[in-house]
Amino acid sequence: MDPNFFIETDRLYISYFQHDNDAHCDFLLNLYTTPEFIASAGNTGLKKRQDARRRIKNSFSKWRATHGYCPYLVSRKPAGPTATDAVGPEAPFQARLARCTPVGSVWFMRGTHPTAYAVPDLGFAILPEETRKGYAKEAAGGAMKHLKEGLGIDVALGFTDPANVAAKAVFKSMGWVDRGEMALREFGGEVSSVWVPPNAAEDLSVYGLP
Ligand SMILES: CC(C)(COP(=O)(O)OP(=O)(O)OC[C@H]1O[C@@H](n2cnc3c(N)ncnc32)[C@H](O)[C@@H]1OP(=O)(O)O)[C@@H](O)C(=O)NCCC(=O)NCCS
Repeated sequence: MDPNFFIETDRLYISYFQHDNDAHCDFLLNLYTTPEFIASAGNTGLKKRQDARRRIKNSFSKWRATHGYCPYLVSRKPAGPTATDAVGPEAPFQARLARCTPVGSVWFMRGTHPTAYAVPDLGFAILPEETRKGYAKEAAGGAMKHLKEGLGIDVALGFTDPANVAAKAVFKSMGWVDRGEMALREFGGEVSSVWVPPNAAEDLSVYGLP
C-alpha cells in the first residue's frame, strides 16, 4: 500500500499500515489485543507480529484494492520545535512518520456481497492510554473528509454495541445523528446502535438498513 499516502489533521497523520514495517505490525498487534478493543470488536486472532504482518499484507491490502479504503494507522505528530529539526516537511513521508507515535486506527468497512449495505461503516480504536484526548474524533473527521473528497463517498454509517458509551460519545461529538437501535442483518442480526452523519438520507432503507 502506498507508503507516501497520508491524511493530515491538526495533531495526527492517518496512513496505511506497512506490512514490512515491524513497528506497524507490533502496534497493530498491541491495539487489537487490548481488552477494550476485544470488547468492542471481538478477538481478531492475532497472537504475534507475523499474524499482524499477514493481516496487513493480505486482508488490509485486499480491502484497499476492492473498496479504496481499509484500516488506517493513526499517529500523533511530534510536538514542539524539534518536530521538523531532523526531518523536514520535504522528507519522504515514512521518514516523518518514524518520528511520530502510533495511537490508534480508524477504518471503513463494507461487505462485498450483493446484500451489503450501500455505504461503508466507520470504526475507530485508540490505545487505552491515549484515550480522552480527542484523537478518535479528530481521526474520524480526517477519514470522513478523505472518504468524501478522495473517494467520492458522501456518507458512512456508524454501528456500535448499544453499551459502548465511548463509541456513542464519539459519534455524538462528531455531530452524527442517533437513529436508534436496530438488528443488523449484515452482522448476524446483532442489535446495534446506529448513527449517521447529518447529510445522510432520512430514509435509511436507501443504504439497505431497516
Ligand atoms: C471509542 C474510543 C475510540 C474513543 O476514543 P477517544 O480518543 O477517547 O475519543 P475522543 O477523545 O475523541 O472523544 C470524543 C468524545 O467522546 C467522549 N468520550 C470518549 N470516551 C468516553 C467515555 N468512555 N465515556 C464518555 N464519553 C467519552 C469525549 O469526552 C469526547 O466528547 P466531547 O467532544 O463532547 O468532549 C476508545 O474508547 C476505544 O478505542 N475504545 C475501544 C474500541 C471501540 O470501542 N471502538 C469503537 C468501535 S465503533
